[in-house]
Order: sequence, then structure tokens, then C-alpha cells
Amino acid sequence: MSFDERRFRDALGAFPTGVAVVTGISRAGERLGMTVSSFNSVSTAPPLVLFSVARRAHSFPAWMEIERYAINILAQSQETVSNRFARPLGDKWSDMIVINGETDVPLLPNALASFECEAHARFDGGDHVIFVGHVIALRTTPHKQAQPLIFYGGRYRRLDAGFQDAPPRDAHIFEGW
Ligand SMILES: Cc1cc2nc3c(=O)[nH]c(=O)nc-3n(C[C@H](O)[C@H](O)[C@H](O)COP(=O)(O)O)c2cc1C
Repeated sequence: MSFDERRFRDALGAFPTGVAVVTGISRAGERLGMTVSSFNSVSTAPPLVLFSVARRAHSFPAWMEIERYAINILAQSQETVSNRFARPLGDKWSDMIVINGETDVPLLPNALASFECEAHARFDGGDHVIFVGHVIALRTTPHKQAQPLIFYGGRYRRLDAGFQDAPPRDAHIFEGW
């Protein structure tokens, strides 16, 4: 290998992502919540999404046991929520208002979208495990103008200027993706 871990991480930081919090209830009945940037879409039919969890995360064993979870896509105004759920252990949920999902998983209010999932598959991903969820319920924000929280280069960012831009003229090439 011609690079070290630091360079690898820095290079990965060149890929901007949104920020999500995955939520669920452990087998022991406790609420789970973890900030992730590894969320992505997988399939439209069936509707599948993915995220990955570090094996060294405190809550990793609990995530491996549950069959239902939700992925909540954070809005730009939810940086403090992201930081709260990126803390190891502790009571991440104190004073949090929670919405009960259709499948009884806890959802975060004001998320741009929440995907309630049934566990579909788990794959080895080195020091992470890749979770693929089958989306069985959706909740989306009524505020179409709300902006997402962005993570890029190891920092939160804003879309700001580019947000109102018209789509590029060849935007249709992205349709039917
Ligand atoms: C923007 C951001 C993105 C993150 N993405 C991930 C991720 O995709 N997978 C992961 O395992 N941890 C990720 N983390 C770190 C976890 O949120 C953090 O380790 C958290 O403490 C795990 O919760 P736990 O210690 O209760 O298990 C991310 C943190 C931040 C701030």
C-alpha cells in the first residue's frame, strides 16, 4: 500500500455526504441512536438503503441484534443533533422529543426524511458492517425549502449559494438512475 490511513481518510473526505442519525430500540428495550454519513440508496424496487457501523462502536452489538431501525436525514439546522448522536454512550436521548414511527421505532422530529426499515441483510465491511434495510415506511418534511446538513472535508458545510441554482441543462441524464 502506497498510502497511510491518514491520507486515505483525507481522500475520503473529498466526497461530500449528508448526515443521518440511525435510530432503533435495542433488544433490552433501550433507544439506540448513532450519527452516520455512510447512508446511501441501494435499490428502488425493492426499496433498499444502506449504512455502515464501526465494529468498535459501543452500540455495535446492539445494532447487530435488531430487526427494525430508522434512518433520519438531518436538516442544516440539526448540527447539534448530529453532535449529540456522535457522542459515545451517554444518554443521547435526554430531553429529545421523539416521534413514534409506524413500526414503533423512535424517529427524530424535523428530519428532512425518515426511512423506517426492516433489516434486509448485513455484510462484512472490514472494520465496519454494512447494514442494508428494506424501507417499509416513509416520513418526509413538509418544508421543501429546508436545506440538508452537509459533511465534507471533516466539517459541516452549507449548500447556501448553490442551493437556489437551476438544475444543469443536461440534468435529465440523472433521471431514471
Ligand atoms: C458526521 C459524522 C458521520 C459519522 N458517520 C459514521 C458512520 O457512517 N458509521 C459509524 O460507525 N460511525 C460514524 N460516525 C461516528 C459515530 O457517530 C460515533 O462513533 C458514535 O459515538 C457511535 O455511537 P456509540 O458510541 O453509542 O455506538 C460519524 C460521526 C459523525 C460526526
